[in-house]
Amino acid sequence: MQLTVNSTALKNMQKKVFIKSFGCQMNEYDSAKIADLLAMAHGFITTENPDNADLIVLNTCSIREKASEKVFSDLGRLRSLKKKNPNLILAVGGCVSVQEQTNIFQRAPYVNIVFGPQTLHRLPKMYERACKKEKRIIDTSSPQIEKFDYLPPPSQTGPIAYVSIIEGCNKFCSYCIVPYTRGREVSRKMDDIISEVKNLIAKGAKEINLLGQTVNAYYDSTNNSNLSTLIHEIAKMVDIKRIRFTTSHPAEFTDDLFNVFANEPKLVNHIHLPVQSGSNRILKLMRRGYTSEEYQDIITKLRKIRPNIVVSTDFIVGFPTETDEDFAATMDIVQKINFDASFTFIYSPRPNTPAAKMEDNITLSQKKERLSILQNQLGIQTRQHSKNMIGTIQKILVTDHAKKYPDQFSGRTESNRIVNFIGSENILGKIVGVKITEALTNSLRGELYE
Ligand code: SAH
Ligand code: SF4
Ligand code: F3S
Repeated sequence: MQLTVNSTALKNMQKKVFIKSFGCQMNEYDSAKIADLLAMAHGFITTENPDNADLIVLNTCSIREKASEKVFSDLGRLRSLKKKNPNLILAVGGCVSVQEQTNIFQRAPYVNIVFGPQTLHRLPKMYERACKKEKRIIDTSSPQIEKFDYLPPPSQTGPIAYVSIIEGCNKFCSYCIVPYTRGREVSRKMDDIISEVKNLIAKGAKEINLLGQTVNAYYDSTNNSNLSTLIHEIAKMVDIKRIRFTTSHPAEFTDDLFNVFANEPKLVNHIHLPVQSGSNRILKLMRRGYTSEEYQDIITKLRKIRPNIVVSTDFIVGFPTETDEDFAATMDIVQKINFDASFTFIYSPRPNTPAAKMEDNITLSQKKERLSILQNQLGIQTRQHSKNMIGTIQKILVTDHAKKYPDQFSGRTESNRIVNFIGSENILGKIVGVKITEALTNSLRGELYE
């Protein structure tokens, strides 16, 4: 007699984990790894519904106060789930864990586990301890890059894949919490990255996104390789059609990185290069390590090599002591560079950073006014860039069925813009030509060209 197992019944028996990721792409990457580790160690499957989870993981971000506080409001909401199901295990990981440590237990005593970005590989063991009713388990240490030795092969499938290549940050910009939460800068071994990319190819990857807070500081001393060496190595793999990296730092923009834009067609025509401010006085106080002129020189050089390169950036407004003149210098660089896209933030003092000790002398209404003037101008530029794309043929990596319209497909331009268009099932995962017909606020529409 043959025993048949009903797959729905089996699914119902499996333990379920709900993972919520806050913050940057590195956290998203870590969340995917947490899911893989829990699947390997305890057979967990992921669920989109916290109500039926056996384990809830919040992978947190503390870049700005709002992000940090969001975690505590989420924890407040999860409290009722803990009451309903006393066996539910609640784990808090990510950057808020390192920043807040045992304060998390103080503010939310029903949390079982606190772990950090560098100890996520220890979560399965911490989970076992929590199941044995051990309380307040915490490990937010920073064992240098150890986690990568414990990660199973990636289970994530799809044409766009992410690989973290450098952890932490040594830049210590005066406003930023990252060096304190993610730890010091450590690069992974190139061989390790290459084998991860090969595994991702087996899962359908066509585009590789190399991740790091200062990704262009990547350096592997064992074979003297840097970011450009790595890009060239990955580009040799025929299945990989596109390579991008984020986030690069202007102070680490070396000649070989310009050369890789000149010589490597698989490197996309897009650079995200945060400028933060156009005022040299503020840039100095921010400890960014470059001037407004040096930033502009990088973009001028890049545009000589790639005339149509898409440039995106980040800005902080209302940094302590920022004057109207400083802000005018920011508006000036906006005019001069003509950014394609941007992220803008109001300065948020972060605990124990040097800037937090400066007097935060700009009123909230001033900060909001500057933010709105800046966003208004950047919005005009972005909309104009989008309009300029109408009528052009763009190479689109087809990623999905469009969310709102099931008969349509969705993909990404080289500059990572979303394009929706009508197509057929066989184009999924391929790069196709699409003529842009309409520019909407958050996406573009087009028609299949080939
Ligand atoms: N490593 C990258 C970006 C890291 S965080 C870089 O240096 O460019 C992403 C963005 O958040 C930053 O570029 C900055 O614009 C913003 N940010 C970081 N700390 C902040 C703070 N304390 N207040 C407001 N915005 C902040
Ligand atoms: Fe933060 Fe500066 Fe490092 Fe970016 S480079 S993560 S802003 S310290
Ligand atoms: Fe946030 Fe930590 Fe990333 S503070 S932006 S999750 S490195």
